[in-house]
Amino acid sequence: MSNIIISPSILSADFMNLETEIKAVEEAGAKWVHIDVMDGHFVPNISIGVPVVKSIRKKTDMFLDTHLMIENPEKYIEAFSKAGSDLITFHLEATENPKEAINLIKSFGKKVGISIKPKTEAKDIFPYLNDIDLVLVMTVEPGFGGQEFMHDCAMKIPVIKENAPENLIIQVDGGINNLTAKICTSLGANSLVAGSYIYKNKNYKEAITNLV
Ligand code: DX5
Ligand code: ZN
Repeated sequence: MSNIIISPSILSADFMNLETEIKAVEEAGAKWVHIDVMDGHFVPNISIGVPVVKSIRKKTDMFLDTHLMIENPEKYIEAFSKAGSDLITFHLEATENPKEAINLIKSFGKKVGISIKPKTEAKDIFPYLNDIDLVLVMTVEPGFGGQEFMHDCAMKIPVIKENAPENLIIQVDGGINNLTAKICTSLGANSLVAGSYIYKNKNYKEAITNLV
């Protein structure tokens, strides 16, 4: 049994059939679902928001892994918490006060993640590693699904792992497929986000199995 957590990103799912698409990845073995929230400011794209998280929560018990690609995430933490997110990951680059955001997420009883963009150095996240549950290493520029994996970014994984407490989850997001998944897990990642690789595959189970 592999201990790798697979988090299928619904950004590449069929939004007209979101319930079916989420149930399908659950049946295919996923325990988490990755929800990409974009505001058109922090990233040059707009995706989904609080009402969609709320609707998803009503239909599934899966672990809702919420990736906030938004400016001033602290403004929206309460809303996403109440909508039913289980984990809230915000971007280190999106806030002036990461400690405040961490404490706010914890005050709602949620798990906390911090993500870093490709140009942000691994060491920038060191001051927070003991206070959070997950680090999300972006292996593409956030904003769009279906981009090519950036190998250099994956080299941050061992640097973070070396400085992190034992139970920190190290997640990667962007360009993950059967080959890049292996690169990341061999470097120490234990959670993989995959959007297009899973949802553009006819057989979700086979795609998920190929990642672990
Ligand atoms: C990109 C998002 C990703 C995206 C990944 O900004 O954070 O979660 O869905 O898509 P793929 O797996 O297609 O690179
Ligand atoms: Zn994401």
